[in-house]
Amino acid sequence: MSKVIERDLVSKDEIQAFVRRLGKQITHDYAGKEIFMIGILKGSFIFLADLVREIDLPCIIDFMSVSSYSGERSTGVVKIYKDVDFDITGKNVIIVEDIVDTGLTLNHLKTLLATRNPASVRLCTAFDKPSRRIAPIHVDYVGMEVPDEFVVGYGLDLDGYYRNYPEVVVLKDDPELEGEQLFGHVNRD
Ligand code: IMP
Ligand code: MG
Repeated sequence: MSKVIERDLVSKDEIQAFVRRLGKQITHDYAGKEIFMIGILKGSFIFLADLVREIDLPCIIDFMSVSSYSGERSTGVVKIYKDVDFDITGKNVIIVEDIVDTGLTLNHLKTLLATRNPASVRLCTAFDKPSRRIAPIHVDYVGMEVPDEFVVGYGLDLDGYYRNYPEVVVLKDDPELEGEQLFGHVNRD
């Protein structure tokens, strides 16, 4: 099914503004310390790339690849496909996500990483859908809250597509291929 933009949700300027705000806040909160940023693949790669350049602190950048699925009980389980490459013992860890929805992924990940004796673990996300929360997690750094709709762009995907769209949009089905198509966004002068 082809998709088109139903409406724009978050512009490039709004994204840039919250990335700068979060970078400044993290730089302030961890002043005099070193941080260990863990980007959750794949969705966080664009946000993480922008965010780390707004952080003025010594920083290790690492990645994990996980998937969250619900088992027979509603607690959900996180399967790890790729773990971090470095030891996080004694580190100030910040887990970076693209979007928090039920919160099950971050809840499990935070619990797991806490068993490795880091100095601290905080959570950071570009987008948050608080209305969908199941797990009782506190997200320390939130770029922007979004409504309970499926959004893509700025790292967020639908079946692997649309991560490279530079803004965040809500999609709708377009069976007749009549609407405004999602691409054609790169302006080459
Ligand atoms: P949860 O918080 O464990 O439910 O899972 C969050 C993950 O679900 C995110 O990392 C995304 O991969 C995915 N996700 C949730 N909402 C959206 C959305 O609106 N668009 C794209 N991916 C989403
Ligand atoms: Mg995803």
